[in-house]
Amino acid sequence: MKPGCPPLPPIPEAMDWEKFRENGHKVVDFIADYYQSLKERKMPPQSAVEPGYLKQLIPQKEAPPQPGASFESILQSIQSSIIPGMTHWQHPDFYAWFPAQLSPAALLGDTVASSLNQPGFNWMASPAASELEVIVTDWLARALGLPPAMTWEGTGGGVLQPSASEAAVVALLAAKNRSLDRFQTEVEKQDASNKLVCYVSEQAHFCTEKAARILSIWHVRHIKTQRTADGNYPMLAADVAAAMEADVKAGLIPCFIGENYGTTGICATDDFERIAQLPLVKEYNVWLNLDAAYAGAVAVCPEMRAPLQPAFDTVDSLWVNGSKWFSLMTNASFQFFRDRRYVVQSLSATGEYLANKYTAGSMVVDFKDYHLGLGRPFRALKVYTTLQFMGIEGIQATIRRHCGLAQYLHHLLAAHADVFELPLPAKFGLVCFRLANDEDSKRTNKLLEMLQDERRIMLVHSELEGRTILRIALAYPGLTGEDMEELVDYLVKKGQEVPSSL
Ligand SMILES: Cc1ncc(COP(=O)(O)O)c(C=O)c1O
Repeated sequence: MKPGCPPLPPIPEAMDWEKFRENGHKVVDFIADYYQSLKERKMPPQSAVEPGYLKQLIPQKEAPPQPGASFESILQSIQSSIIPGMTHWQHPDFYAWFPAQLSPAALLGDTVASSLNQPGFNWMASPAASELEVIVTDWLARALGLPPAMTWEGTGGGVLQPSASEAAVVALLAAKNRSLDRFQTEVEKQDASNKLVCYVSEQAHFCTEKAARILSIWHVRHIKTQRTADGNYPMLAADVAAAMEADVKAGLIPCFIGENYGTTGICATDDFERIAQLPLVKEYNVWLNLDAAYAGAVAVCPEMRAPLQPAFDTVDSLWVNGSKWFSLMTNASFQFFRDRRYVVQSLSATGEYLANKYTAGSMVVDFKDYHLGLGRPFRALKVYTTLQFMGIEGIQATIRRHCGLAQYLHHLLAAHADVFELPLPAKFGLVCFRLANDEDSKRTNKLLEMLQDERRIMLVHSELEGRTILRIALAYPGLTGEDMEELVDYLVKKGQEVPSSL
């Protein structure tokens, strides 16, 4: 006898795709209105809320008592509770950290990708997502001028990672495995594993150090930097060599060098060419990585690519954040490898449920072998829509605009030598300054506090040789010369308001 189906709850009404169509239009209007209000500067870039503000607005302890709120009322609550507590990264007066822009084409592509919901961990799990990622990362590699080896037609290839920090874990893991490959037994490998050393500039973003911690690479050397005549603070080959020599003498094993093109604090760039030539780098087959999260994007402009070429020619891996100058939103770090073998060897854990003839026949790329998780969002689609809609020309235009405006801003600030000091040249889209004659940084810190309290613009500070500097990182794609002039007028006015002694 056929068993009877047990009584079932109703299919949720909320899964109705016709309602989705209706609500979707409202969401699109909501988004477009939000961007229009930013353009018109209807609110400041930085929120005025205090910690815990949201608890007052959204009941925390209970889930909503009854589902079925209209989408209109949900959007209203986002407008009244969430928007006031946001930092508006896409605001024209946002100059903090580095840009995190998005283009309408990327947002639309990402929306389609989200709607298709393809956790394409291997080719079978989504042939389209896997193949599109291969195609767009090869497009990007060519647009950046990377060597053919770093495409899927070569020995390497590109992967879209959630963040540079996760890319760092992948690169360091591959480096670790390559270093340990020289040892035969488990015991030897274990012993060697405790001796691996990673080298980074003291200016580097913490992501490499964090990756080292995650992977139990105990020895991380922060190489001191010194100012060069052109105002750069590079990690120099001689200093890396000295650190490596001392480590080798102590019985340790150089494994990884994290080079930078555009550090977060001051956009320093390292001495790629000479570092790659160091005898110990060759002897230990040290993995060279380039963190070009922000400034690497300039390589899409052929006239700006030359300084990167020695790195492109020598590194084993690199990353550029698509979330920054490529306007691809968060969750889009481009990572490229020269030789994919060590990555796959490190990450290709599998199970019988994943076995299939395409993988077995090495006919496909299974992206689960290149990142930390299993399932992954369909990131390639937003790259695809953006590169088609905006083109590389669109990306180039923003980069050139920001680099030109940064030079202009630097000139404008320099014209007020009675108020400001410019300790660094404008680098890419970043301009750093401090108050003049402020050895102990007290007045510059005061200016920062005043600017952050007033919230008319948003910027953050950094430190250079023990002194505070204020950073202006150009972000909004529509910035103009007049914006720079108004910004300088405002900064001069605020700078003059800081008491002459504190
Ligand atoms: C130079 C540099 N490297 C790495 C990172 C880390 O990026 P993510 O947030 O993608 O991990 C940043 C973040 O701004 C950065 O500026």
